[in-house]
Amino acid sequence: MSNKVLALACDHGGYELKEAAKKHLSERGIEFIDFGCNGESVNYPDYAHKLCESIQKGECYRGILFCGTGIGMSMAANKHAGIRAAVCSDTFSARMTRMHNDANVLCLGGRVVGFGLGLDMIDLFIDTEFEGGRHQTRVDMLTALEK
Ligand code: RB5
Repeated sequence: MSNKVLALACDHGGYELKEAAKKHLSERGIEFIDFGCNGESVNYPDYAHKLCESIQKGECYRGILFCGTGIGMSMAANKHAGIRAAVCSDTFSARMTRMHNDANVLCLGGRVVGFGLGLDMIDLFIDTEFEGGRHQTRVDMLTALEK
């Protein structure tokens, strides 16, 4: 099953940016599922796993993970088959990781980027299409590395 529901999850370091993202997505009319946390101190691998499972099951089509730096979430997410997670701190990378890597998870650092930049990256991640072609060959090679 594939759909257009976005998955969100965070640890305590990314909670405020995740809440800003929820408000922004609601204003854009974009459906999402929030897998937590609610601001309490948690371990980021648990929340990366919840989000990645929702994509693997087809419950959500892409996801955004938020922690202090985005790095721990990206490391945890990329342990999952079929997940291509990119930690981004600039709009060029957020656009290119959709166009060239077909990234299905964006990881943001709530202690690295402000709300304005974070929300711009989220818009690019949602709105930019994968180019396919030679990039599909390379993405297929990433998938092959999972085996
Ligand atoms: C939590 O303090 C912090 O380590 C976490 O949010 C994240 O930045 C890890 O990569």
